[in-house]
Amino acid sequence: MSDIRFPELAPQGLKKIEWVREFMPVLSRIERRFIEEKPFEGLSIAISVHAEAKTAYLAMVLRSGGARVFVTGCNPLSTKDEICAALDSLGFDVFGWHGCSESEYEQHLIQVLSCKPDVMLDDGGDLTRLLIGKYPHFAENLIAGCEETTTGIHRLRAIKSEGVLAFPMFLVNDAKSKCLFDNVHGTGQSVWDGIMYATNNMVTGKTVVVAGYGHCGRGIAMRAQGLGANVIVTEIDPHCCLAAAMDGFRVMRMIDAAPLGDVFITATGCKDVIVREHFELMKNNAILANAGHFDVEVSKPDLEAISERIEERKPFIRGYYTKDGRVLNLMADGRLVNIVAGNGHPAEIMDLSFSIQALTMEYAVKNRDNLKVDLYDVPEEIDREVARLKLEAMGLGMDELTQEQADYLYLY
Ligand code: NAI
Repeated sequence: MSDIRFPELAPQGLKKIEWVREFMPVLSRIERRFIEEKPFEGLSIAISVHAEAKTAYLAMVLRSGGARVFVTGCNPLSTKDEICAALDSLGFDVFGWHGCSESEYEQHLIQVLSCKPDVMLDDGGDLTRLLIGKYPHFAENLIAGCEETTTGIHRLRAIKSEGVLAFPMFLVNDAKSKCLFDNVHGTGQSVWDGIMYATNNMVTGKTVVVAGYGHCGRGIAMRAQGLGANVIVTEIDPHCCLAAAMDGFRVMRMIDAAPLGDVFITATGCKDVIVREHFELMKNNAILANAGHFDVEVSKPDLEAISERIEERKPFIRGYYTKDGRVLNLMADGRLVNIVAGNGHPAEIMDLSFSIQALTMEYAVKNRDNLKVDLYDVPEEIDREVARLKLEAMGLGMDELTQEQADYLYLY
Protein backbone atom coordinates (compact mmCIF):
# COMPACT_ATOMS: atom_id res chain seq x y z
CA MET A 1 0.00 0.00 0.00
CA SER A 2 1.68 3.22 -1.16
CA ASP A 3 1.61 6.71 0.32
CA ILE A 4 2.33 9.19 -2.49
CA ARG A 5 1.00 12.42 -4.05
CA PHE A 6 -0.02 13.03 -7.68
CA PRO A 7 -0.69 9.47 -8.95
CA GLU A 8 -1.82 11.07 -12.23
CA LEU A 9 1.87 11.77 -13.04
CA ALA A 10 2.54 8.06 -13.60
CA PRO A 11 2.72 8.17 -17.45
CA GLN A 12 5.38 10.91 -17.27
CA GLY A 13 7.37 8.89 -14.74
CA LEU A 14 7.13 5.71 -16.78
CA LYS A 15 8.64 7.51 -19.79
CA LYS A 16 11.54 8.74 -17.67
CA ILE A 17 12.22 5.23 -16.38
CA GLU A 18 12.09 3.87 -19.92
CA TRP A 19 14.63 6.49 -20.99
CA VAL A 20 17.21 5.69 -18.29
CA ARG A 21 16.77 1.98 -18.81
CA GLU A 22 18.13 2.36 -22.34
CA PHE A 23 21.39 3.72 -20.91
CA MET A 24 21.92 1.12 -18.19
CA PRO A 25 23.08 -1.93 -20.16
CA VAL A 26 24.89 -3.70 -17.31
CA LEU A 27 21.87 -3.49 -15.03
CA SER A 28 19.67 -4.69 -17.93
CA ARG A 29 21.91 -7.69 -18.32
CA ILE A 30 21.62 -8.45 -14.60
CA GLU A 31 17.84 -8.04 -14.92
CA ARG A 32 17.71 -10.70 -17.64
CA ARG A 33 19.61 -13.12 -15.41
CA PHE A 34 17.49 -12.28 -12.36
CA ILE A 35 14.30 -13.03 -14.33
CA GLU A 36 15.60 -16.56 -14.90
CA GLU A 37 17.30 -17.25 -11.58
CA LYS A 38 15.02 -15.37 -9.12
CA PRO A 39 17.70 -14.89 -6.42
CA PHE A 40 15.33 -12.90 -4.19
CA GLU A 41 12.27 -15.16 -4.44
CA GLY A 42 9.98 -14.55 -1.45
CA LEU A 43 12.20 -11.81 0.07
CA SER A 44 11.38 -8.21 0.92
CA ILE A 45 13.81 -5.43 0.01
CA ALA A 46 13.60 -1.94 1.55
CA ILE A 47 15.17 0.90 -0.45
CA SER A 48 15.89 4.45 0.67
CA VAL A 49 17.76 6.10 -2.20
CA HIS A 50 17.00 9.30 -4.15
CA ALA A 51 13.55 8.43 -5.49
CA GLU A 52 14.16 9.18 -9.14
CA ALA A 53 14.21 7.29 -12.42
CA LYS A 54 17.44 5.29 -12.06
CA THR A 55 16.41 4.10 -8.60
CA ALA A 56 13.02 3.08 -9.99
CA TYR A 57 14.75 0.92 -12.56
CA LEU A 58 16.88 -0.70 -9.83
CA ALA A 59 13.66 -1.47 -7.92
CA MET A 60 12.26 -3.10 -11.06
CA VAL A 61 15.39 -5.22 -11.48
CA LEU A 62 15.22 -6.41 -7.88
CA ARG A 63 11.56 -7.27 -8.33
CA SER A 64 12.38 -9.20 -11.47
CA GLY A 65 14.62 -11.26 -9.16
CA GLY A 66 11.56 -12.24 -7.13
CA ALA A 67 11.61 -9.63 -4.35
CA ARG A 68 8.79 -7.50 -3.05
CA VAL A 69 10.36 -4.05 -3.10
CA PHE A 70 9.46 -1.14 -0.80
CA VAL A 71 10.77 2.25 -1.92
CA THR A 72 11.25 5.66 -0.37
CA GLY A 73 13.64 8.55 -0.99
CA CYS A 74 16.63 9.62 1.10
CA ASN A 75 16.16 13.36 0.73
CA PRO A 76 12.76 15.11 0.64
CA LEU A 77 13.89 17.49 -2.10
CA SER A 78 15.22 14.84 -4.48
CA THR A 79 12.06 12.75 -4.49
CA LYS A 80 10.33 12.96 -7.88
CA ASP A 81 6.56 12.68 -7.65
CA GLU A 82 6.20 11.35 -11.19
CA ILE A 83 8.61 8.50 -10.41
CA CYS A 84 6.78 7.61 -7.18
CA ALA A 85 3.53 7.63 -9.18
CA ALA A 86 5.04 5.41 -11.88
CA LEU A 87 6.33 2.89 -9.34
CA ASP A 88 2.95 2.88 -7.61
CA SER A 89 1.24 2.24 -10.95
CA LEU A 90 3.55 -0.75 -11.41
CA GLY A 91 2.42 -2.17 -8.08
CA PHE A 92 5.40 -1.22 -5.91
CA ASP A 93 4.93 -0.06 -2.32
CA VAL A 94 6.18 3.53 -2.50
CA PHE A 95 6.24 6.15 0.23
CA GLY A 96 7.14 9.80 -0.22
CA TRP A 97 6.60 13.01 -2.05
CA HIS A 98 8.72 15.94 -3.11
CA GLY A 99 9.30 18.48 -0.36
CA CYS A 100 7.76 16.45 2.46
CA SER A 101 8.47 17.67 6.00
CA GLU A 102 11.15 16.11 8.22
CA SER A 103 8.52 14.24 10.23
CA GLU A 104 6.78 12.98 7.06
CA TYR A 105 10.17 11.90 5.74
CA GLU A 106 10.81 9.88 8.90
CA GLN A 107 7.33 8.40 8.63
CA HIS A 108 8.13 7.24 5.08
CA LEU A 109 11.32 5.55 6.29
CA ILE A 110 9.32 3.77 8.99
CA GLN A 111 6.70 2.69 6.43
CA VAL A 112 9.44 1.14 4.30
CA LEU A 113 11.04 -0.57 7.29
CA SER A 114 7.75 -1.99 8.54
CA CYS A 115 7.96 -4.63 5.78
CA LYS A 116 10.65 -6.19 8.03
CA PRO A 117 13.07 -6.33 5.12
CA ASP A 118 15.33 -9.27 4.35
CA VAL A 119 17.69 -6.90 2.52
CA MET A 120 18.04 -3.13 2.83
CA LEU A 121 19.59 -0.44 0.65
CA ASP A 122 20.38 2.86 2.33
CA ASP A 123 21.85 6.12 1.02
CA GLY A 124 23.28 8.38 3.69
CA GLY A 125 22.45 6.27 6.74
CA ASP A 126 19.02 7.56 7.81
CA LEU A 127 17.31 4.19 7.35
CA THR A 128 20.08 2.37 9.22
CA ARG A 129 20.11 4.88 12.06
CA LEU A 130 16.35 4.51 12.51
CA LEU A 131 16.52 0.74 12.37
CA ILE A 132 19.24 0.55 15.01
CA GLY A 133 18.13 3.42 17.22
CA LYS A 134 14.35 3.23 17.27
CA TYR A 135 12.93 0.19 15.46
CA PRO A 136 15.26 -2.79 16.01
CA HIS A 137 12.27 -5.20 15.78
CA PHE A 138 11.96 -4.31 12.07
CA ALA A 139 15.45 -5.81 11.58
CA GLU A 140 14.54 -9.29 12.76
CA ASN A 141 14.64 -10.78 9.21
CA LEU A 142 17.49 -8.65 7.94
CA ILE A 143 20.18 -10.65 6.15
CA ALA A 144 22.27 -7.59 5.31
CA GLY A 145 22.16 -4.00 4.17
CA CYS A 146 24.10 -2.01 1.57
CA GLU A 147 25.20 1.61 1.94
CA GLU A 148 25.43 3.78 -1.15
CA THR A 149 27.38 6.87 -0.13
CA THR A 150 30.43 8.20 1.73
CA THR A 151 28.47 9.92 4.47
CA GLY A 152 26.53 6.75 5.23
CA ILE A 153 29.81 4.89 5.55
CA HIS A 154 31.19 7.45 8.00
CA ARG A 155 28.03 6.97 10.05
CA LEU A 156 28.29 3.17 9.87
CA ARG A 157 31.87 3.27 11.13
CA ALA A 158 30.71 5.47 14.04
CA ILE A 159 27.87 3.02 14.80
CA LYS A 160 30.34 0.12 14.77
CA SER A 161 32.80 1.88 17.05
CA GLU A 162 29.96 2.59 19.51
CA GLY A 163 29.37 -1.17 19.54
CA VAL A 164 25.74 -0.94 18.39
CA LEU A 165 25.96 -2.31 14.85
CA ALA A 166 23.18 -4.90 14.71
CA PHE A 167 23.43 -6.53 11.25
CA PRO A 168 25.92 -7.02 8.40
CA MET A 169 26.36 -3.97 6.17
CA PHE A 170 28.19 -3.79 2.83
CA LEU A 171 30.18 -0.62 2.10
CA VAL A 172 29.12 -0.33 -1.52
CA ASN A 173 30.31 3.27 -1.84
CA ASP A 174 33.90 2.12 -1.40
CA ALA A 175 33.85 -0.35 -4.30
CA LYS A 176 36.18 0.95 -7.03
CA SER A 177 33.46 0.64 -9.66
CA LYS A 178 31.39 2.99 -7.52
CA CYS A 179 33.50 5.72 -5.94
CA LEU A 180 35.96 6.14 -8.83
CA PHE A 181 33.12 6.82 -11.27
CA ASP A 182 29.89 7.78 -9.51
CA ASN A 183 31.50 10.14 -6.99
CA VAL A 184 34.03 11.62 -9.42
CA HIS A 185 32.30 11.74 -12.80
CA GLY A 186 28.64 11.45 -11.78
CA THR A 187 28.91 14.27 -9.25
CA GLY A 188 31.31 16.21 -11.46
CA GLN A 189 28.88 16.38 -14.36
CA SER A 190 25.58 16.59 -12.51
CA VAL A 191 26.66 19.38 -10.15
CA TRP A 192 27.29 21.59 -13.17
CA ASP A 193 24.10 20.39 -14.82
CA GLY A 194 22.17 21.58 -11.74
CA ILE A 195 24.02 24.88 -11.29
CA MET A 196 23.92 25.86 -14.97
CA TYR A 197 20.26 24.91 -15.38
CA ALA A 198 19.13 26.79 -12.28
CA THR A 199 21.27 29.92 -12.67
CA ASN A 200 21.52 30.12 -16.47
CA ASN A 201 24.85 31.86 -15.78
CA MET A 202 28.23 31.59 -17.51
CA VAL A 203 30.84 29.39 -15.90
CA THR A 204 33.77 30.31 -18.09
CA GLY A 205 35.85 33.11 -16.63
CA LYS A 206 34.30 32.71 -13.18
CA THR A 207 36.23 31.88 -10.03
CA VAL A 208 34.88 28.65 -8.60
CA VAL A 209 35.84 27.58 -5.08
CA VAL A 210 35.55 23.83 -4.43
CA ALA A 211 35.72 22.78 -0.77
CA GLY A 212 37.00 19.22 -0.41
CA TYR A 213 39.24 17.48 -2.93
CA GLY A 214 38.14 13.91 -2.39
CA HIS A 215 36.33 11.88 -5.03
CA CYS A 216 33.44 14.31 -5.51
CA GLY A 217 35.46 17.51 -5.20
CA ARG A 218 37.98 16.29 -7.76
CA GLY A 219 35.22 15.63 -10.29
CA ILE A 220 33.59 19.01 -9.65
CA ALA A 221 36.92 20.84 -9.96
CA MET A 222 37.87 18.99 -13.16
CA ARG A 223 34.56 19.81 -14.83
CA ALA A 224 34.74 23.45 -13.69
CA GLN A 225 38.18 23.70 -15.28
CA GLY A 226 36.82 22.12 -18.46
CA LEU A 227 34.08 24.75 -18.54
CA GLY A 228 36.69 27.50 -18.40
CA ALA A 229 36.49 28.46 -14.74
CA ASN A 230 39.40 29.56 -12.60
CA VAL A 231 39.31 26.93 -9.84
CA ILE A 232 40.39 27.27 -6.21
CA VAL A 233 40.42 24.24 -3.89
CA THR A 234 40.16 24.34 -0.09
CA GLU A 235 41.02 21.25 1.96
CA ILE A 236 41.95 20.02 5.42
CA ASP A 237 44.11 17.09 4.33
CA PRO A 238 47.72 17.78 3.30
CA HIS A 239 47.82 15.04 0.65
CA CYS A 240 44.57 16.27 -0.92
CA CYS A 241 45.94 19.84 -0.91
CA LEU A 242 49.08 18.65 -2.68
CA ALA A 243 47.08 16.56 -5.15
CA ALA A 244 44.92 19.57 -6.02
CA ALA A 245 47.97 21.79 -6.42
CA MET A 246 49.70 19.25 -8.67
CA ASP A 247 46.51 18.84 -10.71
CA GLY A 248 46.91 22.53 -11.48
CA PHE A 249 44.45 24.16 -9.08
CA ARG A 250 45.04 27.05 -6.70
CA VAL A 251 44.91 25.85 -3.09
CA MET A 252 44.20 28.11 -0.13
CA ARG A 253 42.18 28.48 3.07
CA MET A 254 38.46 29.17 2.77
CA ILE A 255 38.94 32.49 4.55
CA ASP A 256 41.32 33.57 1.75
CA ALA A 257 39.13 32.17 -1.01
CA ALA A 258 35.93 33.77 0.32
CA PRO A 259 36.46 37.23 -1.23
CA LEU A 260 37.60 35.76 -4.56
CA GLY A 261 34.88 33.25 -5.42
CA ASP A 262 31.89 33.74 -7.71
CA VAL A 263 30.63 30.20 -7.09
CA PHE A 264 31.30 28.08 -3.98
CA ILE A 265 30.67 24.33 -3.97
CA THR A 266 31.16 22.12 -0.92
CA ALA A 267 31.82 18.38 -1.20
CA THR A 268 33.41 17.39 2.10
CA GLY A 269 30.97 15.31 4.16
CA CYS A 270 31.78 17.75 7.00
CA LYS A 271 29.67 20.46 8.62
CA ASP A 272 30.07 24.25 8.77
CA VAL A 273 32.55 24.36 5.93
CA ILE A 274 31.32 27.82 4.91
CA VAL A 275 30.20 29.99 7.83
CA ARG A 276 29.60 33.59 8.85
CA GLU A 277 33.23 34.76 8.75
CA HIS A 278 33.36 33.60 5.12
CA PHE A 279 29.94 35.04 4.16
CA GLU A 280 31.04 38.41 5.47
CA LEU A 281 33.88 38.55 2.95
CA MET A 282 32.00 37.31 -0.12
CA LYS A 283 31.15 39.31 -3.24
CA ASN A 284 27.63 40.49 -3.93
CA ASN A 285 25.70 37.78 -5.79
CA ALA A 286 28.04 34.93 -4.86
CA ILE A 287 26.48 31.53 -5.48
CA LEU A 288 26.61 28.88 -2.76
CA ALA A 289 25.97 25.24 -3.51
CA ASN A 290 26.48 22.00 -1.63
CA ALA A 291 27.20 18.62 -3.22
CA GLY A 292 28.27 16.84 -0.04
CA HIS A 293 26.51 16.07 3.19
CA PHE A 294 22.77 16.76 3.73
CA ASP A 295 22.28 20.52 4.23
CA VAL A 296 24.96 21.22 6.80
CA GLU A 297 28.06 22.14 4.83
CA VAL A 298 26.97 25.72 4.11
CA SER A 299 25.69 27.15 7.40
CA LYS A 300 22.07 28.21 6.93
CA PRO A 301 21.77 29.54 10.52
CA ASP A 302 24.73 31.87 9.86
CA LEU A 303 23.25 33.01 6.56
CA GLU A 304 19.98 33.80 8.32
CA ALA A 305 21.83 35.66 11.08
CA ILE A 306 23.48 38.10 8.65
CA SER A 307 20.37 38.65 6.52
CA GLU A 308 17.63 41.22 6.84
CA ARG A 309 15.48 39.56 4.17
CA ILE A 310 15.31 36.10 2.59
CA GLU A 311 13.53 35.61 -0.72
CA GLU A 312 13.13 32.95 -3.41
CA ARG A 313 14.75 34.52 -6.48
CA LYS A 314 14.35 31.67 -8.98
CA PRO A 315 13.52 28.02 -8.70
CA PHE A 316 16.25 26.42 -6.54
CA ILE A 317 17.82 29.78 -5.65
CA ARG A 318 17.14 31.57 -2.38
CA GLY A 319 18.54 35.07 -1.93
CA TYR A 320 19.89 36.05 1.48
CA TYR A 321 19.87 39.86 1.50
CA THR A 322 22.54 40.84 4.00
CA LYS A 323 22.33 43.79 6.36
CA ASP A 324 25.34 45.37 4.57
CA GLY A 325 23.50 45.45 1.22
CA ARG A 326 24.67 42.29 -0.61
CA VAL A 327 22.78 39.24 -1.72
CA LEU A 328 24.18 35.71 -1.34
CA ASN A 329 22.44 33.02 -3.36
CA LEU A 330 21.97 29.63 -1.72
CA MET A 331 21.06 26.86 -4.13
CA ALA A 332 18.73 23.95 -3.42
CA ASP A 333 18.27 24.96 0.22
CA GLY A 334 21.85 23.85 0.85
CA ARG A 335 21.06 20.25 -0.10
CA LEU A 336 22.69 18.23 -2.87
CA VAL A 337 22.56 20.67 -5.75
CA ASN A 338 23.04 18.02 -8.44
CA ILE A 339 20.04 16.03 -7.33
CA VAL A 340 17.71 18.80 -6.21
CA ALA A 341 18.32 21.33 -9.01
CA GLY A 342 19.63 18.89 -11.61
CA ASN A 343 18.68 15.43 -12.75
CA GLY A 344 21.17 13.61 -10.56
CA HIS A 345 23.89 11.37 -11.86
CA PRO A 346 23.76 10.30 -15.49
CA ALA A 347 22.15 6.92 -16.11
CA GLU A 348 25.39 5.48 -17.50
CA ILE A 349 27.08 6.15 -14.15
CA MET A 350 24.24 4.75 -12.08
CA ASP A 351 24.47 1.66 -14.29
CA LEU A 352 27.75 0.95 -12.48
CA SER A 353 26.62 1.89 -8.96
CA PHE A 354 23.31 0.06 -9.07
CA SER A 355 24.77 -3.01 -10.77
CA ILE A 356 27.15 -3.33 -7.81
CA GLN A 357 24.21 -2.86 -5.46
CA ALA A 358 22.15 -5.56 -7.18
CA LEU A 359 25.03 -8.06 -7.26
CA THR A 360 26.07 -7.33 -3.67
CA MET A 361 22.50 -7.95 -2.48
CA GLU A 362 22.48 -11.22 -4.39
CA TYR A 363 25.84 -12.14 -2.82
CA ALA A 364 24.53 -11.35 0.68
CA VAL A 365 21.48 -13.56 0.18
CA LYS A 366 23.54 -16.44 -1.22
CA ASN A 367 26.11 -16.18 1.58
CA ARG A 368 23.71 -15.35 4.39
CA ASP A 369 24.93 -18.22 6.58
CA ASN A 370 28.48 -16.91 6.58
CA LEU A 371 27.73 -13.26 7.35
CA LYS A 372 28.43 -11.85 10.81
CA VAL A 373 27.34 -8.54 12.32
CA ASP A 374 30.09 -6.48 10.72
CA LEU A 375 30.99 -4.04 7.96
CA TYR A 376 31.95 -5.70 4.67
CA ASP A 377 33.66 -4.50 1.52
CA VAL A 378 32.06 -5.46 -1.76
CA PRO A 379 33.78 -8.70 -2.86
CA GLU A 380 36.58 -7.96 -5.32
CA GLU A 381 35.13 -10.35 -7.91
CA ILE A 382 31.84 -8.38 -8.01
CA ASP A 383 33.69 -5.08 -8.29
CA ARG A 384 35.83 -6.35 -11.18
CA GLU A 385 32.94 -8.10 -12.89
CA VAL A 386 30.85 -4.92 -12.99
CA ALA A 387 33.77 -2.95 -14.44
CA ARG A 388 34.35 -5.71 -17.01
CA LEU A 389 30.68 -5.79 -18.04
CA LYS A 390 30.67 -2.00 -18.39
CA LEU A 391 33.74 -2.12 -20.62
CA GLU A 392 32.03 -4.78 -22.72
CA ALA A 393 28.86 -2.68 -22.96
CA MET A 394 30.97 0.29 -24.07
CA GLY A 395 32.67 -1.86 -26.70
CA LEU A 396 36.12 -1.34 -25.20
CA GLY A 397 38.79 -4.02 -25.30
CA MET A 398 41.12 -4.97 -22.47
CA ASP A 399 44.32 -6.98 -22.63
CA GLU A 400 44.62 -10.14 -20.58
CA LEU A 401 47.72 -11.40 -18.85
CA THR A 402 49.30 -14.60 -20.06
CA GLN A 403 50.10 -17.13 -17.31
CA GLU A 404 53.81 -16.22 -17.61
CA GLN A 405 53.02 -12.54 -17.13
CA ALA A 406 50.80 -13.33 -14.16
CA ASP A 407 53.59 -15.42 -12.59
CA TYR A 408 56.02 -12.55 -13.24
CA LEU A 409 53.74 -10.13 -11.40
CA TYR A 410 53.02 -12.66 -8.61
CA LEU A 411 49.32 -12.06 -9.23
CA TYR A 412 48.11 -15.61 -8.87
P1 NAI B 1 35.96 11.82 0.24
O1 NAI B 1 36.22 11.33 1.63
O2 NAI B 1 36.62 11.16 -0.92
O3 NAI B 1 36.35 13.40 0.16
C1 NAI B 1 35.98 14.36 1.11
C2 NAI B 1 37.14 15.37 1.19
O4 NAI B 1 36.72 16.50 1.94
C3 NAI B 1 38.37 14.79 1.88
O5 NAI B 1 39.50 14.95 1.04
C4 NAI B 1 38.49 15.61 3.16
O6 NAI B 1 39.83 15.85 3.54
C5 NAI B 1 37.82 16.92 2.76
N1 NAI B 1 37.28 17.69 3.87
C6 NAI B 1 36.65 17.23 4.99
N2 NAI B 1 36.28 18.27 5.77
C7 NAI B 1 36.67 19.39 5.12
C8 NAI B 1 36.54 20.77 5.41
N3 NAI B 1 35.96 21.21 6.53
N4 NAI B 1 37.03 21.66 4.51
C9 NAI B 1 37.63 21.25 3.36
N5 NAI B 1 37.77 19.93 3.04
C10 NAI B 1 37.30 19.04 3.91
O7 NAI B 1 34.39 11.82 0.09
P2 NAI B 1 33.54 11.92 -1.28
O8 NAI B 1 33.27 10.55 -1.79
O9 NAI B 1 34.14 12.94 -2.16
O10 NAI B 1 32.16 12.44 -0.68
C11 NAI B 1 32.05 13.75 -0.14
C12 NAI B 1 30.60 14.01 0.26
O11 NAI B 1 29.79 13.96 -0.92
C13 NAI B 1 30.01 12.96 1.22
O12 NAI B 1 29.14 13.61 2.09
C14 NAI B 1 29.22 12.04 0.28
O13 NAI B 1 28.19 11.36 0.94
C15 NAI B 1 28.71 13.04 -0.73
N6 NAI B 1 28.39 12.47 -2.04
C16 NAI B 1 27.55 13.24 -2.80
C17 NAI B 1 27.18 12.82 -4.04
C18 NAI B 1 26.23 13.64 -4.82
O14 NAI B 1 25.56 13.10 -5.70
N7 NAI B 1 26.16 14.94 -4.60
C19 NAI B 1 27.67 11.54 -4.61
C20 NAI B 1 28.61 10.85 -3.78
C21 NAI B 1 28.96 11.32 -2.53
